[in-house]
Amino acid sequence: MWYSSVKVGIAEIDMDHSNIDSMLQLYFADRIPQNYLGQILSSLIKHFSFEEEVVVELGHEFPPEHKQEHQRLTALLEEMIAGWQAGRIDGKTAAEEVRSLLLVHVTEFDVVLGKTTF
Ligand SMILES: [Fe+2]
Ligand SMILES: [Fe+2]
Repeated sequence: MWYSSVKVGIAEIDMDHSNIDSMLQLYFADRIPQNYLGQILSSLIKHFSFEEEVVVELGHEFPPEHKQEHQRLTALLEEMIAGWQAGRIDGKTAAEEVRSLLLVHVTEFDVVLGKTTF
């Protein structure tokens, strides 16, 4: 577990995190084709805006520095997808990097959402 290693406390967000972990897990176990990495990373990018929407729907302002971090990660992931498509980076190396990024992101940013929305 990486993205779901720490519970945020908002069901929709925690479920999304655990889905992303499952996809990465299947990818590492070669249970899904190697060329699905692009889709996994794209759904991760979509997760960021979903997370922002959930918090706003709960009636709270999404923290601007967290939004900025989503933008930074999105740019990084897009660069990673391009590098992987061009054969500059191996899929599993990219996925491993993503797991470390997510562990840091959930610990430093996402957990705060659960504490401030209730
Ligand atoms: Fe998240
Ligand atoms: Fe986030």
